[in-house]
Amino acid sequence: MESEAVKIEDLTIGYSKGSPLAEIPSLRISTGEIIAITGPSGVGKTTLIRTIAALVRPLSGSVSLFGQTFGARPPRGSIGYIPQRLGLVRHASVLHNVKMGARAGNCGPYALLASTKIRDISLDAIDRMGLSDKIYEPVRRLSGGQQRRVAIARTIAQSPKIILADEFLSELDEKTLEMVKSEVVGFVRKEDATLIVVEHDVSRAKSIADRMLVIDDGRVNPFISSTMALEVP
Ligand SMILES: Nc1ncnc2c1ncn2[C@@H]1O[C@H](COP(=O)(O)OP(=O)(O)OP(=O)(O)O)[C@@H](O)[C@H]1O
Ligand SMILES: [Mg+2]
Repeated sequence: MESEAVKIEDLTIGYSKGSPLAEIPSLRISTGEIIAITGPSGVGKTTLIRTIAALVRPLSGSVSLFGQTFGARPPRGSIGYIPQRLGLVRHASVLHNVKMGARAGNCGPYALLASTKIRDISLDAIDRMGLSDKIYEPVRRLSGGQQRRVAIARTIAQSPKIILADEFLSELDEKTLEMVKSEVVGFVRKEDATLIVVEHDVSRAKSIADRMLVIDDGRVNPFISSTMALEVP
C-alpha cells in the first residue's frame, strides 16, 4: 500500500547559514516511488541526499522519514545509502562488504538471522550484481564499476525501505548499466521501497525516475529547485 516515505518542508541545505546551497519548499515522496535529483556539479545534490539521510543537519526546515524528523532517526537498517565515494572496506572481500549490509538490515532485537542466512542473502545480492566470480576478491582489486556494484549489492542485501543512491550508475558499460538498473528498480517495485538517486546525466535520470528534482543555480535566488512530473518509463 502506498504511504508517505519522505516529507520535506521549507528545507534549506548547506554547511553554513551565510551561504545556503538550495531551498526545497515542499516535497513529498511516497513508497514505491523513484525520484532523480539532477543538476550541475557542485550545486548541492550530494548534500541534499546526505541531508535526507540525516548525515548533514538542515540549515532550516525539516525532513521526515516515515513521519519521524531529524534526530529521531528511523530504525537502523531501514535506510540504504550508496555514497558517491562508495564507503566500502577496500581491503576486505566482496562477500565481507555485502554481509555488512545484510547484517545492518537484520539487526532488530528479534531479527537476528543465522549466519548461514546472512551468507545466503549476501551471495544472492552478489549474484544479482553479476559478481559471483569475485566473492573472495578484496574490493581494492576490483574495477571502479565492479566496486560500485559491490556497494549496490550491499544495499540490496540490507533490504532497506529507502535507498539513497549517489551517482550509482557511474562507470558502468551500457549492458551492465541496464542490468543494474533493472535489478534496483525491480527491488524497489517489489518491496514497495523508495529510491532517491542523484544523477547528473539527465537522460539517464529520466530513464529511471518517476519524477525529477532539478537543482539549478539561478542568479537572483542563487539556487532554485523545481519538480516536474515525468512519464513512468
Ligand atoms: N562537508 C562539507 N563542508 C563544507 N562544504 C561542503 C562539504 N561538502 C560539500 N561542500 C560544498 O558544498 C557544495 C555542494 O557540494 P555537493 O557535493 O553537494 O555537490 P554535488 O551537486 O553533489 O556535486 P557533484 O555533481 O560534483 O557530485 C560544494 O561547493 C562543496 O564544496
Ligand atoms: Mg555529488
